[in-house]
Amino acid sequence: MLLDARQPDAIAAAAARLAAGELLALPTETVYGLGARADDDAAVAKIFAAKGRPADHPLIVHVADAADAELFAAELPPVARRLMAAFWPGPLTVIVPRKPGVGAAAAGGQDTIGLRCPAHPVARDLLIAARALGVAGVAAPSANRFGRVSPTQARHVVDEFEPGLWVLDGGDCEVGIESSIVDCSRAHPVLLRPGVLTPEEIAAAAGEPLRAPDAQAPRASGTLVAHYAPRAVVRLYDTEALRQALAESGSGGRLAGGLAVYSRSVEPPQGVLSRRMPAEARAAAHELFAVLRELDGAGAAEIWIELPPLDAAWDGVRDRLSRAAAAFVGL
Ligand code: TXA
Ligand code: MG
Repeated sequence: MLLDARQPDAIAAAAARLAAGELLALPTETVYGLGARADDDAAVAKIFAAKGRPADHPLIVHVADAADAELFAAELPPVARRLMAAFWPGPLTVIVPRKPGVGAAAAGGQDTIGLRCPAHPVARDLLIAARALGVAGVAAPSANRFGRVSPTQARHVVDEFEPGLWVLDGGDCEVGIESSIVDCSRAHPVLLRPGVLTPEEIAAAAGEPLRAPDAQAPRASGTLVAHYAPRAVVRLYDTEALRQALAESGSGGRLAGGLAVYSRSVEPPQGVLSRRMPAEARAAAHELFAVLRELDGAGAAEIWIELPPLDAAWDGVRDRLSRAAAAFVGL
């Protein structure tokens, strides 16, 4: 059921739904989340069931402000505080030690917890209204079935779940890919998942360089090699290889009708379904998942994508694309 967030009572009704321990899909500036109150393990269990996500994969808990992070955190290490001060509200999640006895289901049983204060005005209003009803925070993974493309429009969520799910419609997600995740629970900050913030700007705010994940780093399902998979087969090509592959397939080739192309600089042959990738990383992130869904929905059997530039601004987009493509390789 779609609930327009601009309707006068929508936020209050959605907050009451959360307070009652029900599921609610909500907009954030990154992607839509499938939310439940994080302080109620039975409510959180509904998220895992609806998503088809293994129960030991931890979720991100969304809080109304930095002060509410203390409701879930055993402690906020200085590096976490610096990152929160720099980027909250916004597309950054910190992993910190979890307060014992709180948010165990949301944390997937881990002794750490992922916390984020979202910037979307509807998410903020909702979190504040829910807080007034006693909801400490809202656990919300991306509102897609496990392993599928994350939703950036309310319609995407409706398409993915049972009709009874309440979906609070806050329009198009501005950022378009999920938050950057920084593990602050160990001696040095580790970037577990890139987003639209560059490693340089995160490191500058942290006051020290970010480490790459090692064998001890916590597992993150958004970081599984095969994830973000559309139904179509995704193939990534560098610019020349894409040009070559298109020349060889031709519009009358074996893929005629079943091929879609998403490229910054290569002009696909006439008759091939295509979308132009923006030249700027943030703009590409904004539309990436919607484009994958659109090309998938148009019935493409294969989606051929030009690799983004190598610079760090594109890390988040490159990461999502390589996982979408790996899903094919792994099958
Ligand atoms: O932008 C976002 O982060 C979106 C919106 C809805 O806020 N949420 C999102 O959630 O992407 P999800 O569940 O799809 O991805 C959360 C990621 C997973 O990879 C999970 O494993 C990791 O965060 N994560 C959460 N808590 C963790 C913890 N305590 N330790 C390690 N990883 C954690
Ligand atoms: Mg996800």
